[in-house]
Amino acid sequence: MTRTIAIVPAAGAGKRLGFKVPKPFVLLRGKPLVAHTLKALSSCGAIDAIVVAAERPAIGRMKGVIKRFGLYKVIDVVAGGKTRSDSVRNCLKRIGPLAFDIVLIHDGARPLVEGALIERAVKAAQRFGACVVAAPESDTVKVVGSNGFVKKTLDRNTLFRTETPQAFKVRLIKKAYGVKRTSTSTDDASLVERLGVKVKVIVGPPGNIKVTTKEDLKLAEVLL
Ligand code: C5P
Repeated sequence: MTRTIAIVPAAGAGKRLGFKVPKPFVLLRGKPLVAHTLKALSSCGAIDAIVVAAERPAIGRMKGVIKRFGLYKVIDVVAGGKTRSDSVRNCLKRIGPLAFDIVLIHDGARPLVEGALIERAVKAAQRFGACVVAAPESDTVKVVGSNGFVKKTLDRNTLFRTETPQAFKVRLIKKAYGVKRTSTSTDDASLVERLGVKVKVIVGPPGNIKVTTKEDLKLAEVLL
């Protein structure tokens, strides 16, 4: 039987949201944002355990949310790092020698993730070793130089915006994070790509938004 652990990076300043209260604890339909995310993961049969990264001063508060909402699959809350990849690395360290086959990484700031998508990501990781959820790009994307002029226009048909979950065989993701300790990569799959490993892309549903701004929060309220 496959054992899967979820890593939830939920640290960082979250300044772009513009609230005094840290982003994971901002209320979404009366419930802390991160509680929605952790509930979705906890309720999914494909997930056996969860490790969360929180800002060090917010660890107690995070544990309080976990207790209050009965998120019993969360086995620990660790301190986040300076960057998202530092936070994920800290979670991987916590998993250490624990016996899991698959690591699924999901942003704490994506509260609308569906169980079916989590299951698809775990299955793809079992089959291909590494997978990332992504959405086809609908805008035309241009590379812009520091002078403010267009350098070139990319072919939209080949472009996807990567989201989370991203899921990996445990040995592979540990190796990817072990290679470059100072990496500031903004997603996990890119570290695996650097090992020369192929990453399977899963097209996800449109509602799996990341809450970054007040507008995202309003949208999440509507979609929930
Ligand atoms: O910064 P970004 O929007 O890419 O953050 C994605 C996720 O990574 C968020 O859930 C955020 O809480 C988390 N993060 C983290 N540690 C950091 C920065 C971001 O866990 N230092």
